[in-house]
Amino acid sequence: MTARIAVLISGAGTNMAALVYASRMPESPYAVVLVGSNNPEAAGLALAQAEGIATFALPHKGLTREAHDAAMEAAVLEAGADHIVLAGYMRILSDGFASRWAGRMLNIHPSLLPLYKGTGTHARAIAAGDSHGGASVHLVTPELDSGEVLAQIAVPITPADTPESLAARVKLAEHQLYPRAVADYVSRWLDPAALLARLRALALALPDTDERESHGSPGFRVGGEKTGKYFAYFADQHHGTPHIALLVRTGSMDELLALVEDQPEVYFKPAYYGASGWIGIILNRPGVDWDAVAAWLERSWRGAAPRRLTRLMDVAEEF
Ligand code: GAR
Repeated sequence: MTARIAVLISGAGTNMAALVYASRMPESPYAVVLVGSNNPEAAGLALAQAEGIATFALPHKGLTREAHDAAMEAAVLEAGADHIVLAGYMRILSDGFASRWAGRMLNIHPSLLPLYKGTGTHARAIAAGDSHGGASVHLVTPELDSGEVLAQIAVPITPADTPESLAARVKLAEHQLYPRAVADYVSRWLDPAALLARLRALALALPDTDERESHGSPGFRVGGEKTGKYFAYFADQHHGTPHIALLVRTGSMDELLALVEDQPEVYFKPAYYGASGWIGIILNRPGVDWDAVAAWLERSWRGAAPRRLTRLMDVAEEF
């Protein structure tokens, strides 16, 4: 499945161009479906048009931040984009816009975050006597330049550097970094290691759990070294299925079959486990509801945990 990204720019748009050309290479996991700008004169818009990409421009002057953001967002939705990639989009976003796209909006910032949020990054790095500047790709949250950093690249500062010369070199590095970071991010739901890491963090956050391999798959147990019982398994394309999945225990065979019938894109009956009520929850699909995964883990944990632990959990949840 190819991700559909909208790129927002304010200026030259060289990062946008790097994203577009990387997307034209074989097996790119994303396509650029819209280039939007708050600046109708942005040079990048003309390039996008020449490349046959839909464009949208709306000056922010005279509009409230919310109204301008809403118009940009409407264009993004109209283009059917599932991610927004900011590339030199020199606007502070309203909280609502950033929150609605949480986890689906990326930005590139010309510093090694958390250093030098905001503007004037290269001059500040030079003035501080830093050995390196660089760029960071991060998730966008309402707080400026503060979301999770996904990837970084460092660029040395030479004695002759001016903010302009450093900015130009950092841009070369950005052009390598951004397409790769976007490709990795939109493909994250296909990566078994990333899925297992996320699952492991949730499973091992439950009380008195440990991880132990079972028939070559990571398994999660509760109850201690000797008497521990499995409450979850991670299955990476087992027995010819294309699924990367979490296996947890349902209440009954009827429940399992009903879930599989209702939501075959989410649930399946795993070979060998199904008869005992274990259900497969498919993780290698976009838009997995990780809160629901956490709830399944807790439920399955409760089914396997000794009474003393479930009682503790009940008490904790009352508060
Ligand atoms: C890039 O260096 C990017 O990191 C920076 O603007 C430049 C845009 O260049 N972004 C920011 O400063 C965001 N706060 P481009 O238009 O040629 O891609």
